[in-house]
Parts: sequence; structure tokens; C-alpha cells
Amino acid sequence: MVNSSVATYQFETTGRADAAADRVCEFYTDHPYPPPVENLDRARDEWSDESRLRAEYHLVWPNNPYRADLNILVAGCGTWQAAKYAVCRPGARVTGIDVSSTSLDHTERLKRKYRLTNLETLRLPIESVAELEQRFDLIVCTGVLHHLADPEEGLAALRSVLAPEGAIYLMVYAPYGRAGVYLLQEYCRRLGIGTSTKDINDLASVVEALAPQHPLATLLRGSRDALNTDALADALLNPRDRAYSVPQLFDLFDRNGLEVARWYWQAPYLSRCGSISLTPHATRLAQLSERECYAAMELWRGTMTSHSAIVYHRDRGTRYEEVSFADDRWLNYVPHRLPSTLCVQERLPPGAAGVLLNRSHQFRDLILVIDPPEKRVFDAINGSHSFAEILDHAHVSAPAARGFVQKLWDYDQIVFDTSQT
Ligand SMILES: C[S@@+](CC[C@H](N)C(=O)[O-])C[C@H]1O[C@@H](n2cnc3c(N)ncnc32)[C@H](O)[C@@H]1O
Repeated sequence: MVNSSVATYQFETTGRADAAADRVCEFYTDHPYPPPVENLDRARDEWSDESRLRAEYHLVWPNNPYRADLNILVAGCGTWQAAKYAVCRPGARVTGIDVSSTSLDHTERLKRKYRLTNLETLRLPIESVAELEQRFDLIVCTGVLHHLADPEEGLAALRSVLAPEGAIYLMVYAPYGRAGVYLLQEYCRRLGIGTSTKDINDLASVVEALAPQHPLATLLRGSRDALNTDALADALLNPRDRAYSVPQLFDLFDRNGLEVARWYWQAPYLSRCGSISLTPHATRLAQLSERECYAAMELWRGTMTSHSAIVYHRDRGTRYEEVSFADDRWLNYVPHRLPSTLCVQERLPPGAAGVLLNRSHQFRDLILVIDPPEKRVFDAINGSHSFAEILDHAHVSAPAARGFVQKLWDYDQIVFDTSQT
């Protein structure tokens, strides 16, 4: 075991040291990404609301009772992700690993500033994570695996340290929405564009001059990073990245003894959500297997730039609760509202009492128009009461509410604590 305390270690890898000498490591040491932040006050304040912690917990584990004392690994933590996890989850023990020493230095600064005794950082490649000799309840690996020389080896290493009932929160790039990025990566390679400040600033001007119809210009219009030079360098000058379509991602999990518990945001992948559900293809899509439907939705949506999923061991004792409305068990579920959701109440269509949306959704068609009885049900959801209690309070019958509750679930408005059923 590397250590058992919550001290900080600069770790010289003994195992697969090649990852630490890799050009991706060099790139992120010279260009730490995301850009460092000095202040996590806002995140700390937002997450001090326990309902947020509970909602996130049940998104990952619907059928387990809530607990705060998780052992969390942030694999490829970058400049602040591990510190944010530690600040926002004081009851958890967080380990952040990365190959970029500059990124870890930024994390260390935050650790000192916020006196994070629950955070440990190590310079360690994902490929060598077994050297920690620990098992983690939650492994967060976002924006990293697709940069590895052998992502499969990285995923196998992560699986080897995942607790039997644990979950991986994984984000990898998706190909079709990133077509513009790959065009410009190839363009930069052909011109021999380097990563000096001048090269990066020149590249920003060149990107600004793209035709509005160029796939990269379209992507940047919809992105929060827009022409930020750090984001451009990370996307266009990265020495290595690969993207996974839905079928490729499922194949990757199949080969590595893992299974998707759920998409982090599921509505974009469901044909019963949004404008596709109103087209002549809705019935055909509904007849597909789940995987085939997800693959079709990626193609139909066309602009997904990444996939984020909650992943379990395939041989896990208990499966992700198949949230079901077929029998009456759902009446015992305790629903939690997801923090990024919003009930709009201005400029409503006639007869509507609100429009529900999730601010984290990329796609604008994923909205729910609700009527006054539905609004009464929605307003009574507070993370403490079961649906049976909520419907009683809202004076709505179970048969009348069932379809609406399923929609709240499909559209990523709520998650369930099913541990009482
Ligand atoms: C795009 S950043 C993502 C950072 C963070 N996960 C986030 O979402 O903000 C990718 C990070 O992965 C790290 N990385 C790349 N290869 C790695 C490896 N083999 N082992 C550990 N970290 C690695 C890089 O140094 C970089 O900090």
C-alpha cells in the first residue's frame, strides 16, 4: 500500500513509468487543463446543501441508502477537480492522481487554501493505480481515458481498484459532434503548428476566421469555452485523443467486465424524449433494444461531443435498479430533484403551469410542459417523502400520475432513492 494517511505524496512510479514520460504527460505539464481556479467558495456553498449530495448519490446508487463517507478516486484530476470533490464532500476521503506535476501543484494550492485534510494527491499514471492498494466506492474519470496510449489498459486498471459495489463516473469524447475538432487537428498537424504562445494565439485568430458553416465553428457557437485559448490548445493541439461512438463504448465495457448503469444525463439518448418522440420514427425507435436506440439517437442528434456514464462491475451482486413503473413499487420510491433542473414560469403556453428543463442538457428540445396537477406533484418533491405521500398531499391519483413521474425520470428531472422498496 502506498500510504494510509491523508498526506501528500509526489510519487515516482515504479510500474508503467512510460505513461509518466509520455507526450500527453508533457503536454499537460506545459498546458495544464482545465485552467486553474483559485476559488472554490461557490462550489463549497452550493454543495453544503445536503439535498444536492443526496441527489447525486442516488443518481449513482438508487438502491443504496445514502452515505457520505465514500472513498473517492479522481483519476486524471487536472488542476482542481479533486480539490472540488474534497471541498464539496467533507465526509468523503478523496485521492487525486495525475501525471501532470503542474496540475497537481494547482490542486495542492487549493488543498492548502481550503485545509483539505480529506484530500491526497499523487503523481501516478492511471495505468499504475493498482499500486495504491485501495478499493474505491466512486472513481471519477472525466476527459482522461481517451488521451491514454491504451485506454483499455487504463480502464482495466480502474476496474481493478473499483469496490465490488462501486461506480465509475466516466466521460469520454464522442466522434460525430467532434468532427470539426478532428478536421482542425489534422490541419494543425499538416502545418506543423506547435504549442508556443504565439502558435496558440495565431491559431485562435485562424479559428475565428472559419466560415460559420464549418463544423468547428458550429461546435464553438454552442460551447461555453468558445475561443478561450486554453480550450483551443487542449482540443486542437493535444498529442493524442480518440473518440468513442455508443457501440464502441459498449464494446469497450463488454470487453472489460463493466456495464453501463445509466447515462449521466439519459434524456438525449431516449427516443421517447424531445422532438424525435413526435416524428413518424418514434414507433420504430421504441422497438429497438436499448443499446440500438442509444446508438440511433447519437446519430440522429449528431452533435454529441462526449458521453458520460455511470458504470458498474458487470458481475456486481445487485444491478442498477431498473426503475420500473410496471407495478406499484414506484409509489415507495423517494424522489430527489436534480440541482440543475429549473421550472420556468414566465411566458407559458395556454393551460401550462410550468416548463421543466435541465440546465445541463445540451439539447433544447428536452423540455416538459406541465399542467397544474403535475405542478402540484412536482412542487411536493422534497427528497423526504415517497410518491405515495406526495400524491396524497397533491390530491392526484396514482394512475393519473404514473406517466408524468416516468417523464420526470426520463427527462433527468429527478432520481430515486429506492432503498425502502
Ligand atoms: C482534459 S484534462 C481533464 C482533467 C479533469 N479530469 C477534469 O475533468 O477537469 C486530462 C487530464 O488527464 C491527465 N492524464 C493524461 N494521461 C494520464 C494518465 N495516463 N494517468 C493519469 N492522468 C493522466 C492529464 O495530465 C490531464 O490533467
